[in-house]
Amino acid sequence: MLISGRGSNLQALITACSAPNFPAEIVLVVSNRGDAPGLERAGRAGIPTRVIAHRDFASRDAFDAALDQALTDARIELVCLAGFMRILGPAFIAAWHDKLINIHPSLLPQFPGLDTHARALAAGVKRHGCTVHFVRAEVDNGPIIVQGSVPVLPGDDADKLAARVLAVEHRAYPLALRLIAEGRVRVLPDHIEIDGRPGPVRLDVAA
Ligand code: GRF
Repeated sequence: MLISGRGSNLQALITACSAPNFPAEIVLVVSNRGDAPGLERAGRAGIPTRVIAHRDFASRDAFDAALDQALTDARIELVCLAGFMRILGPAFIAAWHDKLINIHPSLLPQFPGLDTHARALAAGVKRHGCTVHFVRAEVDNGPIIVQGSVPVLPGDDADKLAARVLAVEHRAYPLALRLIAEGRVRVLPDHIEIDGRPGPVRLDVAA
């Protein structure tokens, strides 16, 4: 897993993976920041951690190559981005094609980029949520595996809405990981199939 900060989605995956019949295991957590609180969560769970600080590298390509080496050395099969705040270059993304997933705090294709909750409120949408998707070269794009949605409620501000979305993130990411690890996800050129049916899986929370 690649993180940069808080690591609440990492925690959700740690918790999910600790269930006896969960089909995946977290073998390495890499942060590009040494002060990411998520590193402590991994440490508490006994998961090996590494800090690969982007500042230590002269270029993005050199940073990406160091990441790639760490993941390859650890025999990683799937890379999960969770609040990883560096943009990965095209060579890294190509090397991990269909083996690199991300969680984004909006119902893509709505609101790619930053400040998604404030932008959702400003746009007046009735539902908002999160998306777990395979990573492609275009940021916040790629085949969608799971979307979790929540209502936008009267009196919401960005923080309240973010907390409601985060709760569904913590369900959507383990679900997406389970579906992939169980071999139930097929990425086709123009869409995704889950259990042989067109995806994505939707988790719609009532309130
Ligand atoms: C989450 O909202 C995630 O959707 C976004 O960054 C945030 C990371 O939070 N990509 P955390 O570090 O998992 O708590």
